[in-house]
Amino acid sequence: MKKNILFQEPYKSNKVKKYVNQSLNSNYYTADYFEDKCKDLLKNKFGLKNTFITHSATGALEMAALLTKENKKQKVYLPSYTFSSTANAFLRAGYDIEFLDINPDDLMINLDRVIKNAKNNILVPVHYGGYSVDMSGYKDFKKNGTIIEDAAQGIGTTWDNKQVGLFGSLSAISFHHTKNIQGGYAGLLTVNDSKYIEKAKFIYERGTDRSKVISGIKNKYEWVEIGSSFQVPDILSAIIYAQLEDYDQIIRKRKKIHNFYSSYFSKEELKNTLYVQKGPSLSTTNYHAFVLIFKNNTIAKKFIEFTKNEGVNCYIGYVPLHNSKKGKDLKLNSRLEITEKLSNRIVRLPVHTNIKNEDIKYIENTFNKFFKRMLNISI
Ligand SMILES: Cc1ncc(COP(=O)(O)O)c(C=O)c1O
Repeated sequence: MKKNILFQEPYKSNKVKKYVNQSLNSNYYTADYFEDKCKDLLKNKFGLKNTFITHSATGALEMAALLTKENKKQKVYLPSYTFSSTANAFLRAGYDIEFLDINPDDLMINLDRVIKNAKNNILVPVHYGGYSVDMSGYKDFKKNGTIIEDAAQGIGTTWDNKQVGLFGSLSAISFHHTKNIQGGYAGLLTVNDSKYIEKAKFIYERGTDRSKVISGIKNKYEWVEIGSSFQVPDILSAIIYAQLEDYDQIIRKRKKIHNFYSSYFSKEELKNTLYVQKGPSLSTTNYHAFVLIFKNNTIAKKFIEFTKNEGVNCYIGYVPLHNSKKGKDLKLNSRLEITEKLSNRIVRLPVHTNIKNEDIKYIENTFNKFFKRMLNISI
């Protein structure tokens, strides 16, 4: 019987209802009870300190862009192979941006190429597909410039045994419903450089110094910064907390399907047809995604069409920003050879906690059928 295996399904924790009810019963929805619990867990389990739970990673990036903006010309280096939010945040805050090409194996930027341009500038490494950017050059860049990590997909991913999001002065993680930990729409700003902490509190709270009133330093708060409302109600933190508590279970489930794909796509018979995204050697994965790179655009397209018809929903990667409508309107065009060559060949496979053993069998049969019928490859 035909199945319908979704590309993405949010994880559902059994504890969500209990925590949400607890939050609702307090009748004080702006409380910080679950927010504080999330922050403690993020600190103890992932080493993420000085965190702000935001309405999205987009919001966290916007906060970061406001925090690092100075009264001089600053350029932001980021990949074009990323989500719109990475560019939006910096363009809205008035920066110039420049896109960087990606590596063909890990699909992420190479820090070495921009270290010489660090002075007064900002680098935004985007950790993609559950892997970390190769952060080898991060200390060199930080001598003269600032790093803001877009770790939207990276909760639990490490580079050299350290959680991504801890290398830059600031970083953003997403808890959007498509991510490993989800609160519907939610995110996290981490402030690693203490010089930004106070200002971050002001920006977070509509540009006011209300945080000083809360901590008893002042008795009346006022407008001190250009800020916005980036906070979330505590009910949302309750949802995130329930999932953070289940983190290991979530990883175990995602790993199972990831391991199946790894062994399937490492088969010798497929070597001439595609390869698998390979993270840098010091990077672990949080099993957020499984990314294939086909050697040919047409086969990648056919693979998506065929598997979709069979009920296995695979998906394309990002449309490079410099080639998107807005990128063209803003004349952000550059020549990014690898990004342009590979972006139409990237296919992401379904990875989520609701894929069962019988689904894995079904996915395997579907892939076998595709390779046999389309390419006459027997697996
Ligand atoms: C690289 C990257 N940055 C930022 C975002 C935005 O995250 P959010 O949906 O939490 O705003 C995403 C979303 O998928 C993303 O992939």
